[in-house]
Amino acid sequence: MNPEFDAVVSRVRERVSPDDDERERLQRAATTVMERARDAIAELPVEAEVVQVGSTARGTWTAGDRDVDVFVAFPPTLDRAELETYGLDVGHAVLPDGHEEYAEHPYVVGEVDDYAVDLVPCYAVDEATAIQSAVDRTPFHTRYLATRLDDDLAAAVRVTKQFLKGIGVYGSDLRTRGFSGYLTELLTVEYGGFHEFVSAAADWHPPVRFDPEDHGTTAFDDPLVMIDPTDPDRNVAAVCSAANVARLQHYARELLRDPRESLFEESEPAVYDAAAVADAVRERETTPVAIRFARPDVVDDQLWPQLRKSLTGLTEELDRRGFDVFRATALATNGAGGSGDPHETDGAGGSGEAVLLIELSVAERPAVQRHEGPPVHVREHATGFYETYVDDSEVAGPFVDDDRYVVERPREFRTAEAFLDSDALLSVRLGPHIASALEDGYEILIGDNIAALADGFGVDLADYFEPSP
Ligand code: UTP
Ligand code: MN
Repeated sequence: MNPEFDAVVSRVRERVSPDDDERERLQRAATTVMERARDAIAELPVEAEVVQVGSTARGTWTAGDRDVDVFVAFPPTLDRAELETYGLDVGHAVLPDGHEEYAEHPYVVGEVDDYAVDLVPCYAVDEATAIQSAVDRTPFHTRYLATRLDDDLAAAVRVTKQFLKGIGVYGSDLRTRGFSGYLTELLTVEYGGFHEFVSAAADWHPPVRFDPEDHGTTAFDDPLVMIDPTDPDRNVAAVCSAANVARLQHYARELLRDPRESLFEESEPAVYDAAAVADAVRERETTPVAIRFARPDVVDDQLWPQLRKSLTGLTEELDRRGFDVFRATALATNGAGGSGDPHETDGAGGSGEAVLLIELSVAERPAVQRHEGPPVHVREHATGFYETYVDDSEVAGPFVDDDRYVVERPREFRTAEAFLDSDALLSVRLGPHIASALEDGYEILIGDNIAALADGFGVDLADYFEPSP
């Protein structure tokens, strides 16, 4: 083993391991929450079990994290409406100053002794395969890992989490599409340590597949597959994008090549002001176009898939229309209180904005556009094509090129701006909330006018113009 690597890792391990005092404080808060929850359940006409879940239950949180996840498991025979009502009753009793959020069910989020507490109702099913909602799996994860994590492995999990955080790929929220806490734990257990994990990841050839309990499921075609030990039908790494797997591989090699603590720290992001954006645009001599609109009033986990879908729809259409997309990205202000936690959802409160930014290689197309007809020998279609255009004074042709009829007709949009400014924009494949936001109005920015986006998106733009893995 490499002594430099070991030295770096042991300093990180030291830093991310909570001391006894922190553990005690956390456990006291968790105990308070659970006692209050049991008292509240005693007032209800049903039985329910209180379970601490997540990284704080497994001793795998990184020092300084201050959140506690507690689930209230109700009998599976309870109908959903009752589960929701009782769940909220318990939540408000435990967290009188808390507020409701919505994931699979509504649940209550609040604070106890400076810890952020999620109090989530679920069904106490006998097996994870019998779940009625995704959160019902969570207690099984805790039980599964409890028997496999010892102190050394828990420490390795914390180091792995910190590494994944440092390189920006930690979190299973749909903006990040990275590694969840549970996935990190399973990978660390699988490899038996942090060094083993990064050494292996450096040489992965995706798709990479793990099936710790030999369930034999083959249904997944994701770049990383971790069959949930507690549920054969689920890939724990389902949201992890190919790009984040590749990033992990890149930084795993970096860490092995030149071990350093900075890879375990989120770096201070660069920020572009308007002048820096304008300079970058002028230097690149590309044609950036952007549409800016009100951020739809949905949570981040709903917004980001729709932004990506819309960006793909728009870039494909701009390519089809000849503007040659160079690179593109979506930008959005965070949802109010928006955290990466998929158990935590909140209304965006109707504030903020979103942007689809597309950098084009082609600023302007000619006034005419080539339109190919069928091969002349396909008699019926070819004649139809010929007759459509023969008396059309707007087109050049039809003429024969190779074996086909061709016309050159006026181009519908000579610039991307003309296209973006037309109703044709709304016939692009867009996410539903993006489409309705655009129907309500949007602003178009072209060329160095995108410098206006530095107000609010300076970090994203620095990242865009100075990209790194
Ligand atoms: P958390 O997002 O709080 O993750 O979800 P965590 O494991 O506690 O990790 P950190 O340290 O806070 O980042 C709590 C539990 O909910 C389940 C997992 O069992 C997780 O441990 N969960 C969460 C999922 O099954 N899938 C998810 O996408 C998120
Ligand atoms: Mn957690």
